[in-house]
Amino acid sequence: MELEDPVFNALYMYTKALSVALGYRDLLTRLHSERVQGLSREIGVHCGLSNNELNALNIAASFHDIGKIGIPDHILLKPAQFDADEWETMKQHSEIGEKIMAATELQGSQQAALLIRHHHEHYDGRGYPDKLSGEQIPVCARIISIADSYDAMAVTRSYHHARTHPEIMAILHQEAGEKHDPELMDFFSQIIESSQYKATKV
Ligand SMILES: [Fe+2]
Repeated sequence: MELEDPVFNALYMYTKALSVALGYRDLLTRLHSERVQGLSREIGVHCGLSNNELNALNIAASFHDIGKIGIPDHILLKPAQFDADEWETMKQHSEIGEKIMAATELQGSQQAALLIRHHHEHYDGRGYPDKLSGEQIPVCARIISIADSYDAMAVTRSYHHARTHPEIMAILHQEAGEKHDPELMDFFSQIIESSQYKATKV
């Protein structure tokens, strides 16, 4: 991928090396991130984001889980549900990712870092790390959250099986207003039907 904006392209190339590094530990996260980037971009274009927002969205979506580099293998690669302590450790990945992105100190990195920090906030304020709610959550972080949830359910992981597209949409709609922004869910419902990232399981 090459971004038109040279500033964001530099940031993308710089951070890509880290995501390749993460891929050597956890290939599934790397492949998932590529699909979340594509899907987030489709939502962002459809809801009319500015070029600057789209660039920051591309970067943050591509590297939203880069902080998993800082999570120990016995948790990152655990083929079962986490216990409470493991879950608390795993939740740190959004803040670790923010720090990694901000540490590049390249132009645009602070904007992308903030989106990475907030990609697990919930619309009703029950997410993490800051329990932001509604429009307090940056719109690009709300978009990444929908794309992330969709793709996570579309593929098989060691602790769950892939779901079909209608099954995933039923769950996401149920979560609208709680986990997800209901207005963005409307946009998402429109674009996913013709998206190349639509779940393949039938
Ligand atoms: Fe994440």
